[in-house]
Amino acid sequence: MSNRPHAPPAHVIGQDGRETDLLHWMYARSDIKQLRGNPQKVIAAIDEYHTKHNQLMNIGAVKGAAISDLIAQRKPSIMFELGGYVGYSAVLFGNSLKAHGGRFVSIEKNPEMAAVANQLVDLAGLRENVRILVGSSNEVLEELVREKKELKEVEMMFIDHWQRLYLPDLWLLEELGVLVPGKTMLIADNVIMPGAPDYLQWVKASPEEKKKLLSKLNVGSHHPNPDLVFETVVPEYDTDFGKDGLAITKVL
Ligand SMILES: C[S@@+](CC[C@H](N)C(=O)[O-])C[C@H]1O[C@@H](n2cnc3c(N)ncnc32)[C@H](O)[C@@H]1O
Repeated sequence: MSNRPHAPPAHVIGQDGRETDLLHWMYARSDIKQLRGNPQKVIAAIDEYHTKHNQLMNIGAVKGAAISDLIAQRKPSIMFELGGYVGYSAVLFGNSLKAHGGRFVSIEKNPEMAAVANQLVDLAGLRENVRILVGSSNEVLEELVREKKELKEVEMMFIDHWQRLYLPDLWLLEELGVLVPGKTMLIADNVIMPGAPDYLQWVKASPEEKKKLLSKLNVGSHHPNPDLVFETVVPEYDTDFGKDGLAITKVL
């Protein structure tokens, strides 16, 4: 059984009722009919709520566009996400994947957030391309790989849940053997603000450096694979919350 914490960390914005308020606000709009089946309009409406009413911890337009470009370049058949929140990224990236027939699977721990996300995915007309799975990232990943055998190779994954889970979940992916040289791309959000220093250190290190790190780190019950070779860039962006970066990692 996982001993991971239930409550969001202090820096997390929301999960205080504003997400269901967003749904009421969306469905009370006079242009709700135009939103149906229109992912761009659904995204624009969520952005409007974020700007005019309550801030939401969505990826946002700037970093979202950068990731949509990567999806268009690499055309993964399936992309996974850790941390779905209200489904902003699921609608945005699900629509980008739909352009080439790809699918998006989002793993969200909080069932209320997952319910909001499901509703917005449905409103955007992306039901066929997007699945929201409820559960803790580590438990759902293990189930998808070991029991359901639905996840054999990670083509593209967006890591956007809690920064202190980024490294343990990367180690889990390494242990599960689903990171494929020449194929996998991992994109982690918020690596500058609030920051994920231990994750960044790992994805920027060479196999030799990772082996040295392992002699100092407490890996608990994890079985990292330091032999995987990563290439990571960290482009920076100006966002609503200040300067932030994405860690874009290719497995070589
Ligand atoms: C920053 S928000 C995700 C934003 C979303 N990706 C977007 O851009 O629209 C982080 C989400 O991760 C979820 N979360 C936190 N820990 C998690 C875990 N262990 N597994 C799955 N989801 C988790 C939180 O409930 C929250 O909804």
